[in-house]
Amino acid sequence: MNNVKEIIQLLPEPKVGTFLEENLRIMGDEKIKNVLDTVQEIIDITNPSKIFEIGTHVGHSALTFLEKSSAKIISTDIDDWWVSKDKLNRVEEVLQKFYPNRYTQIIQDSQNHDYFLNLNLGDIDLIHVDGLHEYGHCRNDILLGKKLNCKYFLVDDFQHVNMKQAAKDENLILIKEWERLHSVEVSLGLLKLNE
Ligand SMILES: C[S@@+](CC[C@H](N)C(=O)[O-])C[C@H]1O[C@@H](n2cnc3c(N)ncnc32)[C@H](O)[C@@H]1O
Repeated sequence: MNNVKEIIQLLPEPKVGTFLEENLRIMGDEKIKNVLDTVQEIIDITNPSKIFEIGTHVGHSALTFLEKSSAKIISTDIDDWWVSKDKLNRVEEVLQKFYPNRYTQIIQDSQNHDYFLNLNLGDIDLIHVDGLHEYGHCRNDILLGKKLNCKYFLVDDFQHVNMKQAAKDENLILIKEWERLHSVEVSLGLLKLNE
């Protein structure tokens, strides 16, 4: 917990609500603990060696994955009004310092599937879908996860009908949904392929 609180202060200032809708930077100890406990549950179910994330923002969710697992994280974001390239470089610098050889930052549009497929990332255990929360984008991000052979799909803001529909249309089934975390209308959905 102390480690996490220290690292949060070193990460850039977020522009939007981040992991689990609220901003870890302004959460009290109890809320941070709730977030970390939820992430621990996700890690216990998925046991990941490699996590791919769409939507780094300022690295809060990546930080929680790094803290609660021993997985390598590859996270992508686009250099636009949400977060600048400088901030993304700073996220990489901070997370690499505290979790050596475990964090890779990519600056790329998640819709560019060929780019990610050409990286030959190997099999991904868990994908965190937390980019643009529109049906088309979300569905395409899930599709990228399928192309990368992801076993599990963690879909942020799963309370949105857009996200639920995208997951359904990509033939995913729900394993667990964490609802109304921190008393705000937000949920996280953990899903897998319906085989
Ligand atoms: C809600 S924030 C992510 C929060 C972060 N996962 C966390 O919990 O700390 C959404 C991020 O997705 C990024 N994003 C939006 N569209 C994207 C795209 N097509 N490809 C990659 N990133 C995208 C935005 O720039 C923004 O930083």
